[in-house]
Amino acid sequence: MARTSRLPGFYKVTVDQRRSLMSDVTGVDANTIGASLDGGGLDAETADKFVENVLGTYALPYGVALNVRVNGRDYVVPMVVEEPSVVAAASNAAKMVRVGGGFKADVDAPVMISQIQLTSVKDAPAARARIMAAYEEIVAVGNRAISGLVARGGGVRGLEVRTLGSAADAMIVVHVLVDCRDAMGANLVNSVAEAVADRLAELANGKVGLRILSNLCDQRCVRVRCLVPADVLATDDMSGEEVIDGILNASRFAELDPYRAATHNKGIMNGVDAVVIATGNDWRATEAGAHAFAARSGQYGPLAIWRRSEAGELAGFLELPLALGTVGGTLRVHPAARLSLELLGVQDAGELAMIAASLGLASNLAAVRALATDGIQRGHMALHARSVAVAAGAVGKLVERVAALIVEARDITVEGARRAIDALAHAESVADVGGQMSTKKAPSP
Ligand code: MEV
Repeated sequence: MARTSRLPGFYKVTVDQRRSLMSDVTGVDANTIGASLDGGGLDAETADKFVENVLGTYALPYGVALNVRVNGRDYVVPMVVEEPSVVAAASNAAKMVRVGGGFKADVDAPVMISQIQLTSVKDAPAARARIMAAYEEIVAVGNRAISGLVARGGGVRGLEVRTLGSAADAMIVVHVLVDCRDAMGANLVNSVAEAVADRLAELANGKVGLRILSNLCDQRCVRVRCLVPADVLATDDMSGEEVIDGILNASRFAELDPYRAATHNKGIMNGVDAVVIATGNDWRATEAGAHAFAARSGQYGPLAIWRRSEAGELAGFLELPLALGTVGGTLRVHPAARLSLELLGVQDAGELAMIAASLGLASNLAAVRALATDGIQRGHMALHARSVAVAAGAVGKLVERVAALIVEARDITVEGARRAIDALAHAESVADVGGQMSTKKAPSP
């Protein structure tokens, strides 16, 4: 089967059938998919190599977003997330975006910032001048600490010297810019900071303070755009035009109000983080960078905004810093993270960042469209009903039946689900008795 992310009815088939379909569209062996994911993809012995004092592992659902097309290429996108409706909503929004040509994304070079704090600096301007005069020397010292990365085409790309605080207690912070290629880069960047710090303090005539990366990696941003034709957005009750008006209102609300912007961005991060986690990347770093970037103007704002294009389509734009790796770290050891990269078939970390950001824009579109139309609870609760059914003890096919009953009864509670299970069990026992009686009565063929 050709590589496609359009798999209608995927949600209706069994887990095993989905694995087999995934194998068909990605070329990854179905047994590998099973072996990499069963038991959460990580046994306690391997987990013991990751962190300390391990007792076991903690699994989360691993799904795939469908319909995703980025820069003309189809991707099935692994998402690890516990919240019902996130995967379905992103897939649904990606389907709408697809009609408008899919997501168009671009990404900066993978440059991270290494921060070296210098304290007790008497004459900040003179210190700055001496550091910049030693530019080549500092670059060489930094590169020596990461020779493997330099051999792979990365390395130190620049220096920036910033003065913070007042003249009386000024401190200097040097940024060493490091191209990390396909690595997230935290360890590389921290090594550079530690390697150059003493020489920088000598040049500044000051003392070494902190030496660590900045998670506000604003040199490593990714941008995504999409256009959605109005008619695709229409609901049973609202025209596409009206839905666009509602989404523009939602965007404006987030642009004016940090309280709303935080929730708007949470919806974006539903999509981004799920991909970040599925690919073994550091979601805390991603979150820290995203929110710091959202506040860069001095007022916390939305990472994605929505406008009406001249042709009357809905136009979305998202920008955020994203430090993702496709080599090193957890990826080497977590089978499910390796599987995610295989399913995606990405060539480098930049491509992965563009996909994760596209899922962020898809998740935002799904949320603002739902909020501007039916409200979020209708779809959300219908999916939430399945976990409530499981919590009440439903298993197998019973889960869907119980979920349908509690949605219909508008009683999406564990108690409601228990009542539904009892009602179904009772109905079945009556049917069984009825069946036996009718067998007895039936004439022989
Ligand atoms: C819920 O996980 C995310 C939303 O609250 C996002 C939003 O309000 O835009 C629905």
